[in-house]
Amino acid sequence: MATLPAPVTMDKLVSLCKRRGFVFQSSEIYGGFNGVWDHGPLGAELRNNIKRAWWEDYVYKRTDIVGLDSAILANPAVWKASGHLENFTDPLVECRNCHNRFRADQIDLTRNCTVCGKFDWTDIKQFNTMFKTFVGPVEEDASVAYLRPETCQAIFVNFRLVQGAMRKKLPFGIAQIGKAFRNEITTGNFIFRLRELEQMELEYFVRPDQADAAFEELLGINVEWLVNHGVRRSKLDLYEHPDGARAHYSRRTVDIMYDFPFGKSELQGVANRGDFDLTQHAKASGRDLDYFDDETNEKVTPYVIEPSIGVDRSSLVFMLEAYYEEADKEGVRTVMRFHPRLAPVKAAVLPLVKKDAALVALSHEVFASLRGEMLVLYDESGAVGRRYRRQDEIGTPYCITVDSQSLEDRTVTIRDRDTMEQVRFPMEGVRDEINRRLRLPWIRPD
Ligand code: GAP
Repeated sequence: MATLPAPVTMDKLVSLCKRRGFVFQSSEIYGGFNGVWDHGPLGAELRNNIKRAWWEDYVYKRTDIVGLDSAILANPAVWKASGHLENFTDPLVECRNCHNRFRADQIDLTRNCTVCGKFDWTDIKQFNTMFKTFVGPVEEDASVAYLRPETCQAIFVNFRLVQGAMRKKLPFGIAQIGKAFRNEITTGNFIFRLRELEQMELEYFVRPDQADAAFEELLGINVEWLVNHGVRRSKLDLYEHPDGARAHYSRRTVDIMYDFPFGKSELQGVANRGDFDLTQHAKASGRDLDYFDDETNEKVTPYVIEPSIGVDRSSLVFMLEAYYEEADKEGVRTVMRFHPRLAPVKAAVLPLVKKDAALVALSHEVFASLRGEMLVLYDESGAVGRRYRRQDEIGTPYCITVDSQSLEDRTVTIRDRDTMEQVRFPMEGVRDEINRRLRLPWIRPD
């Protein structure tokens, strides 16, 4: 069946996400909360699958990367040393007439305010986007703490502890997945720019003379990771940050850009942070954060190559890339062609008719045999064609149908989401077969 040129728009995706339980506005019954979203049952699953895939590929499959799970709060000295107190700012401008605030680098200040139409801008000032909170029962300056705006600082602060505990030798990496918070001046485009977000960050420590080569290698690996999980190469682009326009810690930054429906924007950043962070934290804490090479008897302050990607932003891209609409005899068939590894629901069990007690009992047997290690749904309501459509719309790779022949020979059919092919399979082997298929390399049908 011909695939229409996927006309995915943000509106279509946002609507599907709400209807099918991927993403909900935070505090929806109170009118929402800007820059914060909740993840429904399928969104939670998609995110878990993205994080698990990332962790398996970077931490389990490699021998040179270990994991860390650090706290969101930290001694505020961390943010002073890292430069965030001073530099983690965005340029803020306000319209004096309507008092709306904007990021000065995202609007045209030679034009009138887009909200009220007046031309009356304040001067630009630097706005620190770290969220502040108070620790303990007093609200005074001495008890101020910050919610981390990136997960990686704890990796630098724990560098020696991790290296010593795991006896790692250069080059090696520390990976972390966790929440980060940014009081963004403007949020928007659904889950693209958030105030509460989650990051998957790798800090890869190398000898300074190996940094350039490690940068190229990690950039390539990270692009391939996206492509291997279903992102079209043609939708990706690289953007090299020019001198003078990089973050305060960066010697080199390349953004992996994605062609979103609202324009090309950063999906992932890859930075060479040099020895900025380790040097800063060593200086501020008075602790030695160098690496001691016991073969050459020399101390090295490693450079750090950092690929950093948002869980939220990558889930948005995986959803946009999965969204297909195809013409079929009932009109339009929407299919979320997730990579099977990322698909929230791996299989659905469908009894062909729900009135036959023996058939329903057998279906429950199949359903029970599949549950436990993956999310499997059971659906008996409506015509089977409609039930296939429902599963297609959430990207379930396999539908298992139990019919009258199943009662005779204990075989079921397995339907493939992408090819819509159905094969008969012995019921007893279905679990192994689904697991086998889920592990096969997957390529986009287009
Ligand atoms: N430690 C480096 C760092 O945090 P960044 O470019 O500011 O670098 C890395 O962020 C990634 O985190 C981005 O490429 C994006 O995927 C995600 N990210 C950053 N800010 C975000 C926000 N406000 N909302 C959603 N995702 C965000």
